[in-house]
Amino acid sequence: MFFRYNELMSDLDQKLSALASRFDAALSDAPDEKALDDLRVAYLGRSGEITLIRRSIGELPAAERPEAGKTINAAVEALEAKLQSALSGLERRHLDAALGETIDVTFPSAPAHLGTLHPIRRIMNELADYFERHGFAVVLGPEIETDANNFDALNIPPDHPAREGLDSFYLRPDLLLRTHTSPMQVRTMRTHQPPVAVIVPGKAYRRDAIDARHAYMFHQCEGLLVGEGFHFGHLKGMLTGMCRALFGPAQAVRFRPSFFPFTEPSAEVDTTCPGCGGSGCKTCGGSGWIELGGSGMVHPNVLRSVGYDPDIVTGWAFGFGIERIAMVRYDMSDIRDFFDNTPTFLEQLG
Ligand code: PHE
Repeated sequence: MFFRYNELMSDLDQKLSALASRFDAALSDAPDEKALDDLRVAYLGRSGEITLIRRSIGELPAAERPEAGKTINAAVEALEAKLQSALSGLERRHLDAALGETIDVTFPSAPAHLGTLHPIRRIMNELADYFERHGFAVVLGPEIETDANNFDALNIPPDHPAREGLDSFYLRPDLLLRTHTSPMQVRTMRTHQPPVAVIVPGKAYRRDAIDARHAYMFHQCEGLLVGEGFHFGHLKGMLTGMCRALFGPAQAVRFRPSFFPFTEPSAEVDTTCPGCGGSGCKTCGGSGWIELGGSGMVHPNVLRSVGYDPDIVTGWAFGFGIERIAMVRYDMSDIRDFFDNTPTFLEQLG
């Protein structure tokens, strides 16, 4: 019986069933998705075994060809189904393995990457803290200013060299990027009756060529105190406190006579070099002092231009460079490091 059956089995059937048993054996040995895919290519791929068998149909009598085609298609379907179920089996095994893993929920996680405040922002925050503790308000002004506010109202006459287009960024003849934060003195006094006590942290712009000490954009902090009876002694007291808050309790402040059109008298402000405590080092160029910026008693013409009476109120103002303070604080030699925003640099200061 068995013999007869075998004898009756067509050549095609024999080929297919031999192929199926080889396929089954290979399938049960296939360890992973890659092996399954190799099998698919070897048997069902364009130049795989099935394709070879399909080609042999051409040798059959025409009448037998459709039947042979069907037989081959059925065999292909069977192989595909087996591949598919092997694949699902693998996926289930992967999942089971993953679910079987024990997770230690107490294990410390990878640290999250936390940013830090930019050093310029930190100095501005410290200045704001100090002055707010002493009753000053923090106000911000526009970076695009009228040249009336940036110059005229500050007693800077039209022929003053500071107005030179080479020094400033003009948007129109009457509008420019403010060259200092001082125009906010004027804006504040015009809209508020004395006494006023404000600081103005913010950006200022000058057409300076960029080098280790200059940038076309930098930060300043303006200070203004106007009311009855204020004098230079109050300025020195406030600034000494400010320098001690920034750099430590040993700081002293000194004034050097200077000139600004909007203050009279005017002074440059220096503080003890925190690098050497005043004995002289590379940071302070051997002088023992670090320059912070300009200051002075608000000029009567400025008070008049905002409608204040200089016979009744007096006051002082200062304007310091934040980068300057930060460079001394963080012992930096190149202002460009602030603006390159290299995380490695900023993180060192964190
Ligand atoms: N605005 C001046 C500058 O940028 C600094 C300054 C401010 C001087 C206030 C005196 C009073 O250089």
